[in-house]
Amino acid sequence: MTSRKTKILLDGGDAQETQRIKKRLGFLDGQTTNPSLIAKNPDIKKLVASEHGLSVREQMDEYRNIVRTISPLVGDAGVSIEVFAAANTTAEEMFDQGQEMFTWIPNAFVKYPCTAEGLRAAEQSVGSGIRVNMTLCFSQAQAAAVYAATKGAKVPVYVSPFVGRLDDIGENGMDLVKNVRRMYATGDGHVAVLAASIRNLDQLLCCFFLETELVTAPTKVLEEWAQKGCSLPDSSFEYKAPGKPIQYQTLDLDQPWRNLEIQHELTRKGLEKFAADYRATLSQTEQPS
Ligand code: E4P
Repeated sequence: MTSRKTKILLDGGDAQETQRIKKRLGFLDGQTTNPSLIAKNPDIKKLVASEHGLSVREQMDEYRNIVRTISPLVGDAGVSIEVFAAANTTAEEMFDQGQEMFTWIPNAFVKYPCTAEGLRAAEQSVGSGIRVNMTLCFSQAQAAAVYAATKGAKVPVYVSPFVGRLDDIGENGMDLVKNVRRMYATGDGHVAVLAASIRNLDQLLCCFFLETELVTAPTKVLEEWAQKGCSLPDSSFEYKAPGKPIQYQTLDLDQPWRNLEIQHELTRKGLEKFAADYRATLSQTEQPS
């Protein structure tokens, strides 16, 4: 492989890290954030400790400040900003947050979960010209639903298959990335695959090898890649798959997304964890339902 086709994003919630990685690599195409990463931001941690938790408004304002600092540091893959979504959050509630978040920076992508409510919010968002990144994707059916729900979008749409979390349950998460790309190759190309939940250098190199459109990786993995001279895999590259293979499914991309079986246990658990980390930054009197 002589040139890199995959855009590289940093998965993090701290602008200082963004600066450091950008300096280390000499470029950075974009950044993804999520509620857990934002809860770990040093300024948020300090504020939470000194004020015994933030109000919902203060949390939003802090999140906005963070992405405003990151925004000018990255390239055209943009900065993904995630809405608060618990199991009972409606599409309307997500869309309201998404609308506000989209105004924060010129290169925003709004992250919604791959749930029925998240897909409804995405449908509405792309119709209003809001770029979206559909997160917590663990199945081909969810990726097919993202495709169908955003069909006709005039703005870029990302879907984020979570590699590492599938590996954690003994499945080969990289197979999901492969399968989604294979399925999308039969479509109109309006959804780009952003490989996420990358935990090691091998996974990053595999994304380059597969030429996924985008990949997001934490500081540790990008540092390691830089240390190894930012080298790209050659044709002899072999990915050592850690778990059991995920079989390809033939799915009709033109069917209504509501016909697809989109439930996934890891999406449910992921939402729960994001919501808990977000809630932990709020004061007792501000806990959302
Ligand atoms: C992607 O946008 C997510 O923020 C991220 O990749 C999740 O990674 P994790 O599974 O390591 O938490």
